[in-house]
Amino acid sequence: MSRIFSGIQPTGNLHLGNYLGAVRNWVKLQDDFECIFCVVDMHAITMWQEPAELTASTREVAAAMIASGVDAKQHIIFNQSQVSGHAELAWIFNCVARLGWLNRMTQFKDKAGKNKENASVGLYAYPNLMAADILLYKATHVPVGEDQKQHLELARDIAAKFNNDFGVENFFPQPEPLILGTATRVMSLKDGTKKMSKSDPSDLSRINMTDDADTIVKKIRKAKTDAEALPGDVKGFEGRPEVANLMGIYAALSDATMDETLTKFAGEGFGTFKQHLADLAVAKLGPIQDEMRRLMAAPDHVDQVLRDGAERARAISEPIMQDIKKTVGFLNV
Ligand code: TYM
Repeated sequence: MSRIFSGIQPTGNLHLGNYLGAVRNWVKLQDDFECIFCVVDMHAITMWQEPAELTASTREVAAAMIASGVDAKQHIIFNQSQVSGHAELAWIFNCVARLGWLNRMTQFKDKAGKNKENASVGLYAYPNLMAADILLYKATHVPVGEDQKQHLELARDIAAKFNNDFGVENFFPQPEPLILGTATRVMSLKDGTKKMSKSDPSDLSRINMTDDADTIVKKIRKAKTDAEALPGDVKGFEGRPEVANLMGIYAALSDATMDETLTKFAGEGFGTFKQHLADLAVAKLGPIQDEMRRLMAAPDHVDQVLRDGAERARAISEPIMQDIKKTVGFLNV
């Protein structure tokens, strides 16, 4: 069976984009793949995190995975820092990847902002750690949102260069991105040209997984739209990114195609559509949020899932790491 690896950063404000772009697809894939899902706490610290908040957020992301329906018995949920192979392989990949490759990464440019001199070295080397996450398990498929595509291309380049440099053809697979559904890039509710993001200073720009029903309804009501009616086909999205975004969210949440959604609402006004969308979002997210709250109230179960997951992740990755060290020429006496 092919193996999936994917991860989420525990940096607070887990949102609808993370759910629709990633976790929901993970749940759908788990019958057909062996899955390893990781709370990537080492990626999180590439930007400053308050230690107590990082701890709480790690549990919250794991709880969100469980509450969304990831089967932690059949598959693995763990936090990255507990399996030392991630850091070990990331170092080796720091020595395989080229500066020129990393210089092209758009996420570093976005996150580092204007003052690049002050960004952490970890933020720069972030994609190498991500490649290590995936290849430490020789994962073949990586379900992610659209924004991770460039990082995955880099992981493929690193895999190919390692195999080539060390003369070990096919040692690492070429991991395939799985970018699925109608909400692969959920945009801000306030600006349809900006990605919905954990770090947007406006809370009205995103639906958080922890928002209650009233907040979800309010945020959808306040979402940016225009005065025209809803279009009947995708051509009507031209120059209206906010409309495309809200209809994409509706399609994803209702498990419909974009065409079905367009047909359903063609000619309607936004008042009616937003009411439908808010009802749907509350109906779909409510049960997940209830379960998240239940899990967080007594986090022993979440901790146990993470502990057990880390143990199983170690069991898979340790023999692979031994092979890698041998291939590189590290003496083991
Ligand atoms: P992160 O924590 O930013 O996001 C987690 C997942 O959510 C997806 N996502 C979105 N999808 C649609 N619309 C959005 N607005 C949106 N925002 C986020 C992301 O694409 C991702 O799938 N580098 C990764 C974490 C990572 C990883 C890995 C992923 C570390 N190692 C190995 C896959 C494999 C990240 O920062 O995701």
